[in-house]
Amino acid sequence: EWWEVERNQKTPESQAIEEAAELLRSSDIPVAFPTETVYGLGADATRSSSVQGIYRAKQRPSDNPLIVHVDSLDMLERLLNPAPQGSPSSTKTPPIALPSIYKPLIDRFWPGALTIILPNPSGSILASEVTSNLTTFGVRMPSSPLARLLIHAADRPLAAPSANASTKPSPTTAQHVYHDLKDRIDMILDGGASGVGVESTVVDGLCDPPVILRPGGIGIDEIRKCEGWENVAVGYKDGTLDVKEVPRAPGMKYRHYSPKARVILFEPTSNPAGVMKHVLKDLKDTAIGAHKIGIIRTRNWELGLGLGSEDDIARTMNPVPSPIGNVVSFPVPVLQDGNSSSCTKVAYDYHLGSDAVSIAHGLFAALRGLDELDVDVIYVEGVSDREGDLAAAVMNRLRKAAGAELRV
Ligand code: TXA
Ligand code: MG
Repeated sequence: EWWEVERNQKTPESQAIEEAAELLRSSDIPVAFPTETVYGLGADATRSSSVQGIYRAKQRPSDNPLIVHVDSLDMLERLLNPAPQGSPSSTKTPPIALPSIYKPLIDRFWPGALTIILPNPSGSILASEVTSNLTTFGVRMPSSPLARLLIHAADRPLAAPSANASTKPSPTTAQHVYHDLKDRIDMILDGGASGVGVESTVVDGLCDPPVILRPGGIGIDEIRKCEGWENVAVGYKDGTLDVKEVPRAPGMKYRHYSPKARVILFEPTSNPAGVMKHVLKDLKDTAIGAHKIGIIRTRNWELGLGLGSEDDIARTMNPVPSPIGNVVSFPVPVLQDGNSSSCTKVAYDYHLGSDAVSIAHGLFAALRGLDELDVDVIYVEGVSDREGDLAAAVMNRLRKAAGAELRV
């Protein structure tokens, strides 16, 4: 009958999902797949050797717990209540229910960019590498249909951190994953650009008051509207610069989301004129040493305004195609001792829009794009909470990318 034929028809997409699912079940090399937040590097969360493959591919230290991805509440239920092992006479433990504090969050945000922390039951089927031996585990149900189809086809919960090489900005396209991991993995499912662009928000409702452990795709204001979450505490540090504080040593603990270039962040409180002055100083000064400069703007000032003819600085615009819109480049002949164009600097200018949603969407692609253009330094303009709920997630990632090089 026709419906039988339909059902048996394999599309290239369904074949790719089947192939990926088979790799997840049988191989110890992880599979990269799209989610609505960022691309994930997935492994069967129930097999140690498979989860170890994630750490190998990413070259990341294994002391960081991983998020488990489920396709359904049924799968989550099976994680909380694993079938008892061994003799049937072993004591029957009462079923573990999902803590009620999470119900309003799950109703409202799942499937989606929210990770919740749950107690890891005794006899858990999760590999210990997933939880780093904590007594809890983090779990989310992604909204990406491709991600859920893959989990369903694999018929296992998938542990998945972001599919980037350790320390690099998270990947939001299959091309980003390919760039970082092409020699280390065998398969990437390409689902196009991730919609959200930053990782999930991680919340812990097992303590009182509940805590936000990582800002992400679901904003804190939205979470506060849910019953039981009105007084949620902020449990993460992202190194907001205290002006009196001595700048931290670069690298170290905060090196994360980092492109090759130095990142200099302007906190959202800095005024556009001040930002521009700083960038222009670099553009005009050969002594600063950066000859290729990246600029990521979130406000609508005109870079060209300060490059007036009185400074004898020519400006031509050369759009460079990029997946998140054109990057405008400005070749800038720099005056040295009155001789023009003894040296040329180039500035690449990304404007990500001014609302936090579009900034989050394009942020990692912009950092990676500027790395591809081989810039020496990236000036990034921060975004204020007024521009929307995702501002906290954006600023958290940017402060980590900038490390010690924060600017007020
Ligand atoms: O958006 C996302 O969440 C992406 C995509 C691929 O789904 N995944 C992701 O996973 O970012 P991962 O493994 O990089 O996130 C791990 C973070 C840890 O750094 C920690 O903040 C939190 O999730 N986490 C995981 N398990 C935890 C636990 N048991 N207790 C506290 N935090 C935990
Ligand atoms: Mg990550």
